Amino acid sequence: MARCFVTRALPGPALDRLRAEHEVDVWPGDEPPTAVRLAAQSANAHGLLSLLTDRVDTALLDACPELRAIANYAVGYDNIDLEATRARGIPVGNTPDVLTEATADLAFALLLAAARGLNAAEISVRADQWRTWEPAAYLGRDVHGATLGIVGMGRIGQAVAARAAGFDMEVIHHDMEVIDAGRSGVSFPALLARADFISLHCPLTADTHHLINEAALIEMKPTAILINTARGPIVDQVALREALKAGQIAGAALDVTDPEPMRADDPLLTAPNLIVVPHIGSATITARHTMAELAVDNLLAALAGEPMPHPVG
Ligand code: DGY
Repeated sequence: MARCFVTRALPGPALDRLRAEHEVDVWPGDEPPTAVRLAAQSANAHGLLSLLTDRVDTALLDACPELRAIANYAVGYDNIDLEATRARGIPVGNTPDVLTEATADLAFALLLAAARGLNAAEISVRADQWRTWEPAAYLGRDVHGATLGIVGMGRIGQAVAARAAGFDMEVIHHDMEVIDAGRSGVSFPALLARADFISLHCPLTADTHHLINEAALIEMKPTAILINTARGPIVDQVALREALKAGQIAGAALDVTDPEPMRADDPLLTAPNLIVVPHIGSATITARHTMAELAVDNLLAALAGEPMPHPVG
């Protein structure tokens, strides 16, 4: 029997399978453990079930000499130092596929909401500002027939493209690896210049950190809308705030921010035509329950000395 630390209570029954085989300690807080608490709680753990809010770095790994497996409850794993885990021979797993459709749904919901100004329109009703049917009020932008630029044509990018087909959108994409191999897609500058909507679906890496910066925002159409359901730091939020204030782009809708959580006094929230939701891309009952099943599958396999079914790195 191994000792496992799970850094947050998870929805659904998946943890029961872990408890049936191992000693399981679940962090009781509603908020993530601090780095110090995480290290203390994991100090004698053999298995760690982490969330994207937990930084798994050299300091943590040094504090957990018995660690044999890490299962991240997310498809993204930028919170984990893979070089450090590899150096220690600790397998890492993620939860791919099961949140693809949920995240693509949210990306498209944000795209539609931003295009039609749903947020502001709804707020105006609650503020008793709906006076009459106004010919020139609440004017949004057409989604049907517009050009969608997808950055990162992986599983989620492709699922967003499938939704766009139903709106007769022209879909163009840029994917660094595919472009480098000269196979398909458009260059990043071409995507910025042509797209009416730009939806980000690339992982956060050193190459994609602040990919959407001042220079990129200048290249976008003044009518363009930016959607980010990937990772907050892919967008330079200071540059985004300035671009929205200056009307350099028409709007933005973010499911992810830098930092997370975004506080109510974050300067970005003073920008116009902005929608921010709290990292809910995978937040459907089915997706979150299934993510838990995959994370437990990964941990059970590795603790039994078998390959993880969903390894990364
Ligand atoms: C992931 O799994 O990486 C998502 O960001 C969680 O919603």
